[in-house]
Amino acid sequence: MADLKISNLYKRYGPVEVLKDINLDIRSGEFIVFVGPSGCGKSTLLRTISGLESISSGSLEIDGRVVNDVAPSKRGIAMVFQSYALYPHMTVFDNMAYSLKLLNTPKDEIRKKVEAAAEKLQLTQYLDRLPKALSGGQRQRVAIGRAIVRDPRVFLFDEPLSNLDAALRVQMRIEIAELHESLPNTTMIYVTHDQVEAMTMADRIVVLKDGEVQQVGTPIELYERPNSLFVAGFIGSPKMNFLTGQFAEKYKAHTVGVRPEHIELANGDAVWHGKVIHTEALGSDTFIYADIGSGEPIVVRQRGNAPITPGSEIGFSPEGDHFHRFDQNGRPMAN
Ligand SMILES: Nc1ncnc2c1ncn2[C@@H]1O[C@H](COP(=O)(O)OP(=O)(O)OP(=O)(O)O)[C@@H](O)[C@H]1O
Ligand SMILES: [Mg+2]
Repeated sequence: MADLKISNLYKRYGPVEVLKDINLDIRSGEFIVFVGPSGCGKSTLLRTISGLESISSGSLEIDGRVVNDVAPSKRGIAMVFQSYALYPHMTVFDNMAYSLKLLNTPKDEIRKKVEAAAEKLQLTQYLDRLPKALSGGQRQRVAIGRAIVRDPRVFLFDEPLSNLDAALRVQMRIEIAELHESLPNTTMIYVTHDQVEAMTMADRIVVLKDGEVQQVGTPIELYERPNSLFVAGFIGSPKMNFLTGQFAEKYKAHTVGVRPEHIELANGDAVWHGKVIHTEALGSDTFIYADIGSGEPIVVRQRGNAPITPGSEIGFSPEGDHFHRFDQNGRPMAN
């Protein structure tokens, strides 16, 4: 069990407020993902939860108990960092056993815990190896194993996969999701820049900007019902197209937003007309960049290999009611 309650939390470095009035209720067993632009305070929030940073004001409760002044090692929290820094001269077993040794855990109990974690993470055959003889993904699993052996109530991950190549990231993403399923009472908080990780791993995503929470919701809630222009532009890749001026007037809005995957190509009766300026063929999808006279090119996503060449004149329309209207304050308006 580990419910987390963050109330009116502020973090200041001198006069600089890095976290402002953070309020979050995280339920035991939830997988929460923090996203937001670089410098918005994701790592700082994670570090205040772990106790590596103090809280300037407000409170952090774990299972109803205020832990602001509880030492990091006594919070039942384990953190996995981007740079997993294993001890190079220790075997995988010793790396994983290290924190338990420091706690004077009996030897046979250490062995049991390390072996159980190794099995969960498919590291059993590597226990006698040194980190330098492991792949990046295996090293990252050892870093997670170091955390697991401590039976944490809360797992904190700060961009744990960003040093791995694309294929390994996908594999580790699935492994962390499976780890979460196998530890149903362990709360996990995960920071990432990766849209796919956020959308696929999170029970709920917390979007931060300038040290403030912008929106909290399930991935689909944020994707379908962003509460601001900022969240609309931040969730989804490629990002939502925003049109203003006469383009938005047609929709009686200050700004109209349409996701690239919600624009269809049309001929005569299209809503917008323009010239293709660039295409990117990814195999599975084609991204079409077109100038419709709105200032910035719009991005259109077509499935498969769309036979569109730069220079062609094409019409574009939003699919059905898949468009988002925003007022002059960047707040959503009902369609
Ligand atoms: N010790 C410190 N003293 C002063 N300012 C700090 C300190 N640590 C962090 N900051 C500032 O706090 C802000 C938030 O930093 P933080 O590392 O939490 O951002 P982040 O969201 O994790 O960014 P990134 O995505 O780049 O990792 C930044 O503007 C940073 O410069
Ligand atoms: Mg960070």
